[in-house]
Amino acid sequence: MNDVIRKGSADLVIVANRLPVDRVHDTDGTQGWRRSPGGLVSALEPVMRANDGAWIGWPGGTDVDLKPFVEDGLQLVPVSLSADEIEEFYEGFANGTLWPLYHDLVAKPEFHREWWESYVTVNRRFAERAASVAARNATVWVQDYQLQLVPQMLRELRPDLRIGFYLHIPFPPAELFQQLPWRRQILEGLLGADLIGFQLPGAAQNFIRLVRQRVGHKTHRDMVYLEDGRSVRAAAFPISIDTAGFEELARSEPVAQRAAEIREALGNPSKVFLGIDRLDYTKGIYPRLRAFSELIADGHLDVEDAVFVQVATPSRERVEQYRILRDDIDRLVGRINGDLGRIGPPVISYLHSSYPREEMAALYRAADIMVVTPYRDGMNLVAKEYVACRFDNLGSLVLSEFAGAAEELRQAWLVNPYDINGMKSALLEACAAEPKEISRRMKAMRKTVMDKDVAAWAASFLDELAAIRPSHGKTVRPARRT
Ligand code: G6P
Repeated sequence: MNDVIRKGSADLVIVANRLPVDRVHDTDGTQGWRRSPGGLVSALEPVMRANDGAWIGWPGGTDVDLKPFVEDGLQLVPVSLSADEIEEFYEGFANGTLWPLYHDLVAKPEFHREWWESYVTVNRRFAERAASVAARNATVWVQDYQLQLVPQMLRELRPDLRIGFYLHIPFPPAELFQQLPWRRQILEGLLGADLIGFQLPGAAQNFIRLVRQRVGHKTHRDMVYLEDGRSVRAAAFPISIDTAGFEELARSEPVAQRAAEIREALGNPSKVFLGIDRLDYTKGIYPRLRAFSELIADGHLDVEDAVFVQVATPSRERVEQYRILRDDIDRLVGRINGDLGRIGPPVISYLHSSYPREEMAALYRAADIMVVTPYRDGMNLVAKEYVACRFDNLGSLVLSEFAGAAEELRQAWLVNPYDINGMKSALLEACAAEPKEISRRMKAMRKTVMDKDVAAWAASFLDELAAIRPSHGKTVRPARRT
């Protein structure tokens, strides 16, 4: 540890697979860091500043022994992964086993014992780092499926800590989770926490049921009672976005101008459809493009008048299933544009790239119909970002009923992504809806997203965690108002 981050000094420690910064290379060859655009860091930043917070995570790549550093006032503690660990822990167990298993087997999970061993090793490294950074009686908040063993490992090292865990992705029904050869270890790993947060109440119930059946602990409603007298609560805390930040961006003059430019470049069609996703097989990109293309082929939509913009952010590109998906989408887009196109802007503008928040806000403003059709998704923040950006109360949201967001955004046009005809009807309805109807729905959804932003989400989780272990541990100081 260098003197920037003293051992055992942080009263609030966030442990996540990734650090909230991206590496940037300057033209003169020097390396630096830039804050990554994620909502989690913007939500936690104020509370971290108020509590001498530290963030533990993997900086990406295979650097060895990066020292802790401070970036833009945030204390960052890198955990390094070897090339083998990236393959076995990150691409393997996290994204080749857990990710498909937790997303309802949309792809087939692979079970390999070496991947599991690497998962245990890397989780232990994160737990040890957290144990050395956390002050006495501090609060540690562990994030997501990559680190489910950390709570228990950390509790063994540091029983004084107050430990929270939050799962950003779905937690599967017992029938699916049961396939996992290491199901008991994962459940026990999570039970090291005092509070376990999920996106939806159904996920918390799946967890409680599994703990009762598989580990044999007593449970009552959302509580688990352990033999050592400790109790653990499992409950839903649906995550959100920086609503005000997105709205402010969307209202800005440069974004308005950029939105107009985008529509112009698309040939000023009367309807712009938009999809923005990580290029992931859970996101249902394939069926949505098929549904749209069939509407053009059937003559329900006119190719001169309707375009689909699909942004697919590159993701986990070395994992086999993601490569296959990329080829499938490339082929589908090529075929649609080849079969249905004419001279002029393509039927589907397909962008395999990531964009800064400003460009995303401009795309949201430019889109008449936002199409979010995952087969399964913990929440889906793109749906909420679209709503946040439509301060004009215009814009239709077509949303999969299998996205967590569908439990809150009830006024969207809800669809089943496995039902292509149903999706076609919903796309047409959303397209043909009267402005009054569109704005009635959008207003209701905007109220939901404004009332519950990501800062409220973080505060409610941390307050609940403090309430669960009141006599033990320091209280997390609320964010200082600026
Ligand atoms: C999902 C997960 C996150 C993950 C992100 C990006 O949102 O819930 O934990 O960080 O995808 O995936 P990556 O594998 O690039 O970190």
